[in-house]
Amino acid sequence: MGLIYEKILRKALFLQDPERSHEYASKALEALAYFPKVCSLMARFNSVAGAEPIELFGLRFPNAVGLAAGFDKNAKCWRAAAALGFGHVEIGTVTAQKQPGNPRPRMFRFPEKEAVINRMGFNNDGAKLVAQRLSKTKEHPIPLGINIGKSKAASIEAAAEDYLSSFHRLADFADYIAINVSSPNTPGLRELQGDQHLPNLLKTLSDANQDRAHKLGIAPKPLLVKIAPDLTFPELDSILETIIDLGYNGIIATNTTIDHSSLPTVKETGGLSGHPLHKRSLKMINYIHRATSGKLPIVGVGGIMDVESCGQTMEAGASLVQVYTGMIYRGPFFARELAQAMAWYHKRWV
Ligand SMILES: Cc1cc2nc3c(=O)[nH]c(=O)nc-3n(C[C@H](O)[C@H](O)[C@H](O)COP(=O)(O)O)c2cc1C
Repeated sequence: MGLIYEKILRKALFLQDPERSHEYASKALEALAYFPKVCSLMARFNSVAGAEPIELFGLRFPNAVGLAAGFDKNAKCWRAAAALGFGHVEIGTVTAQKQPGNPRPRMFRFPEKEAVINRMGFNNDGAKLVAQRLSKTKEHPIPLGINIGKSKAASIEAAAEDYLSSFHRLADFADYIAINVSSPNTPGLRELQGDQHLPNLLKTLSDANQDRAHKLGIAPKPLLVKIAPDLTFPELDSILETIIDLGYNGIIATNTTIDHSSLPTVKETGGLSGHPLHKRSLKMINYIHRATSGKLPIVGVGGIMDVESCGQTMEAGASLVQVYTGMIYRGPFFARELAQAMAWYHKRWV
């Protein structure tokens, strides 16, 4: 299947502007999501025979491979992800305010390096509309993460309030919430990873999460933080301390990198993903795993382009993985291929 995609369909898709191809792919999945019976038949066909589900932060993941944030920013096609063999899906980034993102073109492919650069800038419909869309689906075929970020118009000082507003609108629909402080395309966003802002931001959200759970008499939502691959280890140490002190449930490592040294002639600005990111994000995952003695669950993402890189990410300490660029290069059933291989890895460890 992957070979057919790479030889035929990918050639046709790659003739288009990358964002346009993405829109075609999303529309196709959106159409598929209208047929829940077909989706569940496909999900059954694409499920991994004999795979042990993964229990993590109170959720049950049918397999280790998730669809990373950024593919379905507006919660339009996520219901079809299980049909492709994904074990979870993270929608977003959603911001409190609807915003158009940066001017096009803002997504670029580099096939010779199996890489993508994007500077989308959190183009999304805003938390209110996304919440309305999500309210129409009661059951989630696989765990649904909602990734929230800062609206461009909100200042760094007002960031906590801005995230809080998205949290309040979206928490009811999420199986977990990912706090994105690491996209390189919203000016100042990565500053939120620093000591000056992160403790306040994360405490505001975890307090709100506890209050909500207390009022409703239910368990708090699992909260995760998504970090950049460009942090130094001392910066990472202090992030880990904050996350652990506040009882966060996990970390998503990593977002795209601003280091373009692997593409020296390329002038486009933005975050780089795909193959050139893999080593860097692996290094971060390895470090986090050791620094926390394996106690902080890690969702490993960045440059997973084949079974080998996926296995390396799991062996570095990730409990779950996510892919985005790999799907662009390997096709819609890439998740199934990885999940099958990872089920085997998992069995070997347990
Ligand atoms: C076009 C594009 C848009 C993205 N948008 C988001 C986003 O909105 N929020 C986010 O947290 N990550 C976003 N990402 C980052 C991915 O979720 C992922 O962390 C990163 O691409 C590394 O994984 P990959 O090498 O498998 O693509 C985006 C990535 C791409 C390629």
